[in-house]
Parts: sequence; structure tokens; C-alpha cells
Amino acid sequence: MPPSNIPQHVAIIMDGNGRWAKQHGLPRIEGHRRGAEAVKRCLKAAQDYGVTHLTLYAFSVENWSRPKDEVDALMDLLDRFLQDQLPELLKRKIRLRVIGRYHELPDNIQARLREAEAATRDFDQHTLGLALNYGSRTEVVDAARSIAEAAQAGTLQLDQLDYDTFRQHLYTTDMPDPDLVIRTSGESRLSNFLLLQSAYAEIYLSPVLWPAFDEAEFKNALTAYAARERRYGKTAEQLIH
Ligand code: IPE
Ligand code: IPE
Ligand code: MG
Repeated sequence: MPPSNIPQHVAIIMDGNGRWAKQHGLPRIEGHRRGAEAVKRCLKAAQDYGVTHLTLYAFSVENWSRPKDEVDALMDLLDRFLQDQLPELLKRKIRLRVIGRYHELPDNIQARLREAEAATRDFDQHTLGLALNYGSRTEVVDAARSIAEAAQAGTLQLDQLDYDTFRQHLYTTDMPDPDLVIRTSGESRLSNFLLLQSAYAEIYLSPVLWPAFDEAEFKNALTAYAARERRYGKTAEQLIH
């Protein structure tokens, strides 16, 4: 039976590719390759369960500090993934939205992303968010800069700045906040992922290494979410009434 109370937006920190590869005596890149397969399974599961927004943390601003071979291999994998998956996104009417510092990504990746975003722009039932060259701290700095520019241009009055206006300057301006954040691989940290947007998200820590993540574990996360009580600062008694 599908769990009740399905979250609208699930965001996932896909972690554990390297450890999965090590456990299987394979090079790290093979873990990433198998991780891309897990992305396809997860995308399907999310759509089948009626999750409207799925955001995947694929590459952080900090991940540039990995060995060059690994970064290059990840970019190649991403290039191929985008090429392979565009027909699938079109078939299943999924809009692609990239969050992160786009212009610092390699040109070929930017071109693929632009193509896929443009081709899927009008789909409004399902969204796949891809966090690429993403970090919450750079996002906040970019938002602050954009707010300062608007104030200087006279299109924004600083004394009227509130969070609703602030959030319009974040990369996620047209996305709802995540209801559920999943981190795989047994780690218990957010690693600079959607820190502001997850202010009231429920968090599910999965012990599964990302390449082994499947529909059953996705369902476990949804079931755990359904049993949570989101209080937004209120008392439990207030929520009953
Ligand atoms: C997640 O797996 C993929 C990326 C961060 C790109 P890792 O590569 O971080 O895997 P571990 O943490 O080393 O096992
Ligand atoms: C977080 O995983 C980034 C992505 C999943 C893309 P990391 O493996 O980079 O995080 P840390 O370094 O363990 O915190
Ligand atoms: Mg990791």
C-alpha cells in the first residue's frame, strides 16, 4: 500500500557512491555510474508516488576540490546522463530546473542543461531539480548581491525587505520548500544543501549507499515522513484544533 500524506517536494543528498564502489572492489567512478542508475529509479518512484518536486544534490561547490580525474569523470557522466534522459523527461512530462552557479559549469554541460530546461519548460505537473555547483552559502551571497542591485536600481525598497521578498532572489524562487530531505549513506549532515529552504523540512537519514537506493527505500522514507508531525513552532495541542 502506498504511504499516505505524500510530501510535495522531496530533496535528496545522494551520498555514498565512493564507499559503494570500494565495498565492491571497483573504482570510484563505477560507483558514480551506478549512482546515475539509482537516479533513474528514484525519478520513477517519485513520479509513481505522486511527489511533484524531486531535487537531487548532484555536485556541490565544494566537490570541485576532489581529484581532477574524478571531477572530469563526473562531468562526463552528467553530460551523458542529460543526453540519455532528455527523451525520458519529455515522455514523462517532467520539467528540469537547475539550481547552482550555472555559469561556472563546463560549456558543454551548460549547453545541455539549457537545451533540457528549454525543452521541458512548460511541464507543470512534475519538476526535477538538479543541484549542480550548488551551495547554500553561495546561493545566499548571490541573493544578497541581487537584492543590493535591485535596491540600487530603485526597484526594491530595503525597509520593505522581508523573507518572502528575499526568497524571490534564491535559485529556488519558483519551487516550494522541501517537505522531506533524505540523506543516504548513513551520514548525518546537510553539507551546504538547501539550508534556508529546509528550515522546516523533515529529515530522513538512510543507511543505504546511494547506488543501492531503490523504490523500497524511497517508500521507507515516505512512510517515515507520513508518521511525522510538523509543528512549525506551535504546540501539539494547537494542531489538533
Ligand atoms: C556522492 O557520493 C556523489 C557526489 C558527491 C558527487 P560520494 O562520491 O561522496 O561517495 P562517498 O561519500 O565517497 O562514499
Ligand atoms: C554532498 O556529499 C554533496 C553531494 C551529494 C553532491 P559530499 O560527499 O560531498 O559531502 P561531505 O563532504 O561528506 O559532507
Ligand atoms: Mg560523500
